[in-house]
Amino acid sequence: MQHCFSRRDLLIAGGVGVGVVALAACGGGADVPELTGVGSGDVVVPLSEVPVGGAYEVSIDGRRVVVSRPARERVVAFTARCTHQGCTVRASEEGLVCPCHGSVFDLTDGSAVHGPATEPLGTVGVAVRGTDVVLT
Ligand code: FES
Repeated sequence: MQHCFSRRDLLIAGGVGVGVVALAACGGGADVPELTGVGSGDVVVPLSEVPVGGAYEVSIDGRRVVVSRPARERVVAFTARCTHQGCTVRASEEGLVCPCHGSVFDLTDGSAVHGPATEPLGTVGVAVRGTDVVLT
C-alpha cells in the first residue's frame, strides 16, 4: 500500500518499492512498510519516495517513524508516538496529527503546535546519502 503526502496536494508517501535488504512485507495489520534489523548507515527509503514538503511513514523494528522532507536535500525523522498519551500520529495536510485527542506536530521539527501535547516528538537520526535516506 502506498501513501503520499505533501502540504499542498496531500500526497502521502509510504508503502511499496523500498529497495532495502531488510524490508519485510507488511504484516500484522500494519499499513506501512516494515524494516527490521536495520542500523546506522542502512537505507530507510529512496529519497525519491519522500515528497518535498511531505512525509513517508515506515515501521522500523516495530516503531512507527515518519520521515519528513522539508527541503529538497533535507530530511528529518520522528517517532510517530504522540507525547500526550502515546497514540500513533499520522501525516496530514495540517502536519503530524494525533487521532486520539487532536494534537498536531510540526512536520519539519516535530514540535507540538496544537495541544493537548506540549512536548515535541522524539527524533530519529536520518540523512541523505546519495539517492537514499539512511539511518545515522
Ligand atoms: S494521545 Fe495524542 S493527543 Fe492524546
